[in-house]
Amino acid sequence: MGELIKDIDLLMPEAVDSKPITTGKGGVPGKKLYIESYGCQMNFSDSEIVTSILREQGYELAADYASADVILVNTCSIRDKAEQTVRNRLQQFNAVKKNNPGVIVGVLGCMAERLKEKLLEEEKIVDLVAGPDAYRDLPNLVEQVDEGQKAVNTFLSREETYADISPVRLNSNGVTAFISIMRGCDNMCSFCVVPFTRGRERSRDPQSIVAEARELFAKGFREVTLLGQNVDSYTWSADKSLKGKAQIEKAGVPTVNFAELLDMVARVNPALRVRFSTSHPKDITDEVLHTMKKHPNICKYIHLPAQSGNSRVLKLMNRTYDRAWYINRVDAIRNILGEECGISSDMIAGFCTETEAEHQDTLTLMDYVQYDFSYMFFYSERPGTLAAKKYADDIPLAVKKRRLNEIISKQQALSLARNKLDVGKTFEVLVEGYSKRSKEHLQGRNTANKVVVFPAGNHQPGDYVQVRIENCTAATLTGKVVHEL
Ligand code: SAH
Ligand code: SF4
Ligand code: F3S
Repeated sequence: MGELIKDIDLLMPEAVDSKPITTGKGGVPGKKLYIESYGCQMNFSDSEIVTSILREQGYELAADYASADVILVNTCSIRDKAEQTVRNRLQQFNAVKKNNPGVIVGVLGCMAERLKEKLLEEEKIVDLVAGPDAYRDLPNLVEQVDEGQKAVNTFLSREETYADISPVRLNSNGVTAFISIMRGCDNMCSFCVVPFTRGRERSRDPQSIVAEARELFAKGFREVTLLGQNVDSYTWSADKSLKGKAQIEKAGVPTVNFAELLDMVARVNPALRVRFSTSHPKDITDEVLHTMKKHPNICKYIHLPAQSGNSRVLKLMNRTYDRAWYINRVDAIRNILGEECGISSDMIAGFCTETEAEHQDTLTLMDYVQYDFSYMFFYSERPGTLAAKKYADDIPLAVKKRRLNEIISKQQALSLARNKLDVGKTFEVLVEGYSKRSKEHLQGRNTANKVVVFPAGNHQPGDYVQVRIENCTAATLTGKVVHEL
């Protein structure tokens, strides 16, 4: 089955909703936009910013790509397969272009940044290429294409955070929303393309983050997830001349760190749940864990990607922590937040030179941590990364896949064991919508990020309910509402 579990999650095309829109300011009223997103939550969040920018120009959302004037694909480069999926999708858009040559096809996001104008040559149907920091330029880029030129902007910024743009929530359940708190990444994990596609790390003004959370709460949302590639490295200073964490720290000026930001967002309202992703094991502090403990509305769930359980491999990966350090952070989570805090991971099987014994270390780390959930991949060499330059991609594909399958089986067993511990317990669940299988059941998540399914009764999305767990699979807890809050 391969790397499927996360890839399916990551690569599911996001349908857009087609809410009525306000009239644009001049621009091109009535023109239709279709936007499809691949990759991580940051990309989905960026598509909401892009939609907001184009809506200002009078664009309406199209129900499907066949009825759109502008088709945008927000792309991911993290693994080769992610790029192939987008290339296949572009072929499908080709048919629309044939029938209607005036349709604009644009590539946004990480593939746009990685391949730049090469995309125009390689994928003949692409008219427009915009990298993650170039979205404010989209109206101009579209205009250039309308005037008969190809348009490319892959400029990476040290400042852009789109702080002032109010995202148009796409495909929203009206209950949960993402808030980007930072952009880029200054880590140089040797396997990873993100620092090249997203540029330097920069943090967004905390006041704009709190304002966005308040606005969401006022609109009925009950959960926000603060997003960044490495949220623990969030550092904001009012001094705009300082660029990036290193300069801010050196200047010794007053700052807001991630624990303080979490505290600020948690105070927006006790009925607004706060989640965050992703935590980096080298940076997660006890201060963050204590802040989580202090606020009942900060969810007790930490996505703490290990990547490998072996210290030599972690060194080659340039993760800047070793197995002992990782275990120390897990112990801190357990000591401060207890056994019930959900922990999940990302794991890479078959990184360059990984031996069988080193692969076993990943499995034993999983046993130690008892992860609730993991995203699991086999290593995919990415052009331009440190690993591509320095190490041979020398583990045969069959071995990578076998190791990955062992990791997946281990996780399935752990997920089931962890979920079984929850049977008989009662959890507060925020209702997100109907269960995928039946309209008579609702689903939501508990604080530890576990999906809980229960008979709907009179409950509505956005309600908090107490659910007593009666049964489970490796993926889901099922139960009944015991009493309302
Ligand atoms: N910022 C996050 C990761 C973002 S990328 C972090 O540091 O944890 C999401 C996941 O994709 C990574 O955690 C890693 O497990 C996986 N990944 C990244 N590059 C990869 C590659 N070249 N091959 C396979 N998996 C990769
Ligand atoms: Fe990639 Fe590492 Fe940055 Fe995560 S922390 S985005 S894995 S470079
Ligand atoms: Fe993919 Fe870019 Fe996110 S490479 S995982 S979309 S930051």
